[in-house]
Amino acid sequence: MSPVIRRATVLDREAICGIQRAAVLETCRRSYPLEEVTVWAGLLSPETYYAIENRYFVVAERDGRLEGFGQLDEEEGEVEAVYVDPRSGGRGTGKALLAHLEARARERGLLELKVRSTLNAEPFYARAGYERMALVRYRLVPALMLNCVEMRKRL
Ligand SMILES: CC(C)(COP(=O)(O)OP(=O)(O)OC[C@H]1O[C@@H](n2cnc3c(N)ncnc32)[C@H](O)[C@@H]1OP(=O)(O)O)[C@@H](O)C(=O)NCCC(=O)NCCS
Repeated sequence: MSPVIRRATVLDREAICGIQRAAVLETCRRSYPLEEVTVWAGLLSPETYYAIENRYFVVAERDGRLEGFGQLDEEEGEVEAVYVDPRSGGRGTGKALLAHLEARARERGLLELKVRSTLNAEPFYARAGYERMALVRYRLVPALMLNCVEMRKRL
């Protein structure tokens, strides 16, 4: 069964933060050094998810539990995040979140989406039809620059 995708609210912040921390420390750790994922995870706290109010921000829920979240910048035409709890990986949750963000982007008249993918998520986006454009350095904070892959998809 597919997860239910709905708009996130501030009440979801704790669960969202828990999912992102776990995904960074376990899934992203496969492609980034321990020092980088440790700094990255340390930056995350429930109060920092302002995007819930100023972006198109959704969560995926199955059997009453949050399994993942996705974030779209509709102005820039950019998928800013798709994160799935490592315990729920490989069950189609990421794919459902991404398809939902793409449908929203089409509704808004966007013709193309960009993503600055983590190295670990590149095969996931490639599977969904995104093309690799360039290797880029993404500044999370002044002390942390992550190697990422810029990818694009025509909608
Ligand atoms: C990337 C991520 C969101 C994928 O979520 P998921 O729920 O495990 O992925 P799904 O089960 O929906 O997979 C969708 C498809 O992508 C493929 N896929 C997913 N991850 C893959 C990987 N690492 N390598 C190869 N294929 C992969 C699946 O096989 C599946 O293919 P199918 O359509 O043929 O069935 C998840 O691994 C994650 O949260 N990663 C850490 C956070 C992150 O880096 N996010 C990106 C930030 S830009």
